[in-house]
This record gives sequence, structure tokens and C-alpha cells, in this order.
Amino acid sequence: MSTSSGQIFQVVRQAARIEEIIGEHIALRPAGREFVGLCPFHEDRRPSMYVSPQKQIFYCFVCAAGGDVFKFVENYHKMSKGETLRFLAQRYGITLPEFRATNPQAASQRDKIVDANLWAAQYFQSNLAGSIGHAAREYLTSRGVHAATIERFQIGCAETQWTALAAAAGKKGISSETLVSVGLVKNRSDGSVYDVFRNRLIFPIVDSSDRVIAFGGRILPSAAPEPNATGPDQEGPKYLNSPETALFSKRETLYALNLARQPLIRKQLAVVVEGYMDVVGCHQAGVENVVATLGTAMTEQHVNLLRRFCNRMALVFDSDEAGRRAADRAIELLLRYPVDVRIAHVPDGKDPCDFCMTHGGEAFEKIVTQAKDSLEYAWEKMYTAFQASDSLAGKQRASEALMRLVAPAIFNNSVDPIRRGLLQKNIADLVGISSDEVHARIRRLAVGTDRPSGDPGAVKPDAAPPVEVDMGLQRAGHWVIGALLCDFSLYHEFRDRISMDLFSSSDMAALLGLLLEYLEELTDMAAGNLAEFIARVDNPALVRLAIQAQAEAERGGNLNQKIEDSLTRLEELALRGSPAGIDADSSQVAPDEADRLKTAVNARMQAVKINKLQRKLGPRPSGG
Ligand code: UTP
Ligand code: MN
Repeated sequence: MSTSSGQIFQVVRQAARIEEIIGEHIALRPAGREFVGLCPFHEDRRPSMYVSPQKQIFYCFVCAAGGDVFKFVENYHKMSKGETLRFLAQRYGITLPEFRATNPQAASQRDKIVDANLWAAQYFQSNLAGSIGHAAREYLTSRGVHAATIERFQIGCAETQWTALAAAAGKKGISSETLVSVGLVKNRSDGSVYDVFRNRLIFPIVDSSDRVIAFGGRILPSAAPEPNATGPDQEGPKYLNSPETALFSKRETLYALNLARQPLIRKQLAVVVEGYMDVVGCHQAGVENVVATLGTAMTEQHVNLLRRFCNRMALVFDSDEAGRRAADRAIELLLRYPVDVRIAHVPDGKDPCDFCMTHGGEAFEKIVTQAKDSLEYAWEKMYTAFQASDSLAGKQRASEALMRLVAPAIFNNSVDPIRRGLLQKNIADLVGISSDEVHARIRRLAVGTDRPSGDPGAVKPDAAPPVEVDMGLQRAGHWVIGALLCDFSLYHEFRDRISMDLFSSSDMAALLGLLLEYLEELTDMAAGNLAEFIARVDNPALVRLAIQAQAEAERGGNLNQKIEDSLTRLEELALRGSPAGIDADSSQVAPDEADRLKTAVNARMQAVKINKLQRKLGPRPSGG
């Protein structure tokens, strides 16, 4: 099976376009022969992730995340290798042979969570479609939700009974242990279990790779307390959410981002609302760049998640007091980021869902486009507070609060000079000091504010190491590896001169070991490719080294000459008995790990050579 699964990886890798896949996850813009975007693997402030269609690799200049298309999907979605393969194969319409473990024990805990949630989502959906779902269907109809929308959002419902789901899951062989771990059932003290979601509308929460990772359950009106009713079924919060699991964190999840991602990349605008129903209503009305937080305030993670796709956000919150408070908190957070933020409240005490149902998508879009700029919003709030206060101290507090709020935004370049000037002038006029004085105060406040961490600051994406060659030890090794990575066919010519002994226990040796192993295994040098090799390198420090060495060599001109000179230098040093390439200080790979690798590689190379020899000598006699 190992060869056939190897072939499958190969087929999928050849079909997949890394720029396409990454482009579906973050906004990419062309930069020369490559694309750049915000790196999703650290808190990126300036685009530092490069994607090379030619090399089929990605690389972040700040956090050094890098690899092939498999690596990206694996890390982005926190998927296993198998899940990644399935994901990419499906995306490119490749049918996989049945690899699924026949032994359920073999499935990982994560697979169990995914499978249980998927099953439960289907179970809730079939409830809604059947006689059990009558009341829920009536409720959805009364809210104006169409069948197609129910389908699209996979909305379902939970029975009124206490053990309906637990029993149905048992018949499917899903253990109550798994159900407990995903929060679908709870344990009673006598060891039996009961359903967590009862008599609720169920909104599956789907991640960006279309896995159901959690559920939100809205209480149904029929469950509202009747005058003389008792019992827990009539109680509980309006919404219940699944607990946090290995796959689900409220702080990092936005409802319906899976459906909204493409629309918001296209429109370069993310509309954030407060509720599940709001998202459903907006999408049904044709406004699809809409997501919601899950009953929490917006977090840094949410902002960073959205900023991968676009730099404009509009918050459209309910017009009630809670909605206003949520907006205030969100603004405070968002003003610290270089994003264009607008705020709107839905008129007439409605929420976005009801508004869309009554007035339609176009009217909602109008609210969005007419939304207030966050600075303007902040200004108006301050102005109201300022006017309302009759003490000097109160007025001062209001203006100081505003200056503190806008300070980070003004100094992170997210505010254009005209808007900034106007705001400063407004404050100056109101408070009765000069515009320059306002500017100076804001600057002082900005220095004291904590900015989101992870700002690469001085790191420029193209601040690659200089091309000029110093024939130091590191350099020579670097060039050998870089040149080979640029052109695998050079290996034929220099094969006899390249050996592990030229390098000491450093990253370079470890990388060269892996490279030689790869090159030895290749039957046809033309069949090899950089992305495939990079995919085999597990250690991020080595991936970084490989990508840098290759890029440098590529820019460095005559590869043949470089490899020749470098090898000569390394050979001289080896003759003199000084191990080349030693640089223990900068080594990212622990020396013993590199040693282990080196030994392992030598052994494997030996085996490969023997294998080749045997192939040349013809088939072994049977029985051997
Ligand atoms: P809303 O009460 O505005 O809900 O709460 P909604 O989704 O708009 O639903 P309708 O229109 O009243 O039917 C906004 C969000 O806050 C979270 C949920 O994520 C909800 O969608 N919430 C609300 C909870 O987590 N728990 C609650 O008890 C209430
Ligand atoms: Mn609502």
C-alpha cells in the first residue's frame, strides 16, 4: 500500500495548484513571478507570505513557515496527512482508493470527533425533515427562512426527548465517550447519558474545510415556559453552543466563514453580524459576505482571520443596548489594526435578519455602504458625551478617551491623512486647543499603547540575504545544496564528489542527507521537483534553509561554476581535516538529531545503492 499511496500523493500534487489553493484561503496579490499575502501562521501585519506557482511552494519571510501545497493545507486546517490528501483530492476531483481504516480503533481521536459531528448534523437535519421537525419547520417558516437556505446551512433540530440522540448514535456504533467529548451528551451520576440539545433549532458550525466542528442550538418557542410547566426542558439559555474541543474554539471561529469566504474575498469586505439567524437572513437575501461571532465579543483571532481575506470590515449590530456595547468593544479592538472599519446599526429596533426579511438584501447593502467610519463613530460618541457633561472634568475625560481610542489607528497608517487632519481639527475646535497640540497628545498616547504583537517591523519581505558570495564554510555548503535544488540534473555530474563527509553535524548536513536520499531514489532526474522534495522535509528549520538556499542559488548565476567552486573549497577544508560547514551556534537542528539523521541517511543511501545494484543484476532468485 505504501507505493500506491505514494503514487496517489504524486497524482494529487501534480493536479493541485498551490496558488489556487492558498488563494482560496488568503487574499493573494501578484508580485513578480510570485504571489504575496498575509501569512496565516503568525500575526502578520504586512504581507510576508510568498507563493511560487513555478516552484509550487509557499514561504513566509517572517515566521519561516514553508512547504508545498500539502503542508499548507495540513497546517492551516490542522489536518492529518490523510485528511489533507482527501481534502485536495476532492478539490481536484480525484477519486481516492479506499484507504479508510477498517478497524475503528485505528481512527484518531480527531477523526472520531469529525465523524460524530458529521453524523449528528445529518441526524438533526433528518429530524427537521421528518414529523419530529414539524414545530421547528413552522418556526423557520414564520421567520421567513426558505427550504434552500435550510439546506445550505444544514439547519436541523433536536427532539424534545432526553435520550433520542444518544440512542440513535448508539445504533450507529458511536461511543458515548465520543459523544460526551464533543458535548452532544452529558453523563448522569448513574452512568447513563442524556442529550444536551433538546427541542432546539440546530445550526452546525462548519470550518473552512467543510468539517462540522460544533453546533449552536436555539431554543424553540414551543419550549417557552408554560404557566404551570416545570422541568429542565423549559429552561436553559436562548442559545446553547458546543463546548470547546480540539477542533473548536469560539475565539477563533466565525459562523459561516466557509460560505462567506469567497464572497468576501471577491467584495474585499467582511460584514460581521451578531447572530446565527442574522447570517442566515443576510445570505438568503443575497448578501453573502456575512459572518458572525459565536456569542462572544470579537477577538484578535477573529480580526486576524478576517484580515487574511480583506482589509475592510463592516460591523452591523443590533440596535439594542447590547449591540451598541458590542460595537464599542469591537471598535476599540479594531482601531489597533490597519483595517478600514465601518459600523452600522439596523434601524427600528430590528436585527439584521428581520431587516433583510422585510426590506431585502439591497436595503441591507445600503446600510453597509452607508455605515459610519469607525473614527466618525468614535467621534460622535465622544461628542455626545462631551455635550452631555456639564463639568469641565467630564468634558476632558470624554476628549481624552477619544484621543486614547484613536491613537493607535492614527499611528498605524490605517487612517489617511485627510481623515486624520479632520478628526484632529474637530477635536481641537471642540476642546479649544490647537490642532498641533491635539496631534502631539495623540502621539504621546500612541507610544504608550500596546500594539498587536508580531509586527515584523523592520523586516522587509524582500530582505533576502545578499547574493555576494563569501566562500565561508556555511556559504560553500549553502551553494552546493542551493544549486542542486535549482537543477537536480547537476547531481549526475557531481555525484562522486558530493558526500555526507564534506559536512559536519549541522543543519546543512541534515538537509544534504535528505536531499541525497531523495536524489538517489529518483530514477529520472527530470521527474524530481522542488516541492516534492520540500514536502519530505519535516523540520521547519530545514525547510527554511532549503528554500533560502534554492532562492539564492537561483539568483546567483552560473550554477555549474558555483557548485564546482564550492565543492573545491569544501574538499580543501576536508583535506586539512577541518570539518566543513561547522556552525554549531546557528544550528537549528540539535547536533544529536543531525548525527542521527546522518547515520540514518548513510544507511538508507547504502540500501538504495544496493537496491539499484540488484536491479541491474536482475531479479533475485526466488525464495530469497
Ligand atoms: P441574538 O439573541 O441576537 O440571536 O444573539 P439571533 O441569532 O439573532 O437569533 P434571533 O434572531 O433572536 O432568533 C446573538 C448571538 O449571541 C449568541 C448566539 O451566537 C446568538 O446567535 N448567544 C445568544 C448565545 O451564545 N447564548 C444566548 O443565550 C444568546
Ligand atoms: Mn437576533
